[in-house]
Amino acid sequence: MRILFIPKKENRIIVILGKKGAGKSFYANQLVKKEPAVIIDPLNEYRGGIYFFNYEEFEKFDFAIGVFKIILKFKDDEDYSSAFAKVFEVGNCLLLVEEADLFAQSQNIDSNLRKILRYGRHRNIDQIYISRRPYELNRLVTAMADEIVVFRINEQRDLEFLQKYGFNPDEIRSLSNYQHIKKDLTT
Ligand SMILES: Nc1ncnc2c1ncn2[C@@H]1O[C@H](COP(=O)(O)OP(=O)(O)OP(=O)(O)O)[C@@H](O)[C@H]1O
Ligand SMILES: [Mg+2]
Repeated sequence: MRILFIPKKENRIIVILGKKGAGKSFYANQLVKKEPAVIIDPLNEYRGGIYFFNYEEFEKFDFAIGVFKIILKFKDDEDYSSAFAKVFEVGNCLLLVEEADLFAQSQNIDSNLRKILRYGRHRNIDQIYISRRPYELNRLVTAMADEIVVFRINEQRDLEFLQKYGFNPDEIRSLSNYQHIKKDLTT
């Protein structure tokens, strides 16, 4: 088997939600700053790591080399699907998925990502998912979450959805930029 990418994970799944510009990526960046991670970055928001622009390059990368921040800026969504499979196989890492609703749409979730959501715990994979539209995100993502972090959202359907997880819609609507509310779902 492969060498450890990161020694010890907490097997946590964190979901970060909020409208555009609310501060999601900034917040996520803080979370992964000191940690090696594989970052799915379709909108090219992340800096400071090793970049891969297609799956062929990433496929060849040997995790045993050491501990890195790996940022995937693929053009092709199918490439990401293969990358999810590789992350599952390698394990022992933190996976951050930006624009999670691209890969986990309400009616259609990438099968390799589904595997990470369901069984990533057994592969020692911490996970962070980011989306602007909770309502458009596959239910499995929020169902598996240990923690949901919500920045400002105005959309009614999104607010109603979050209400089911115990969030107060008025409170979410009245957040200012960069402010968030966090809910621990493990207790
Ligand atoms: N806590 C903060 N303090 C200062 N600046 C911040 C903070 N959070 C975010 N910003 C700045 O605000 C801008 C928008 O933040 P960010 O990129 O995190 O938004 P986002 O929620 O990821 O938006 P999008 O959905 O469009 O990707 C960025 O330029 C970022 O540097
Ligand atoms: Mg962002």
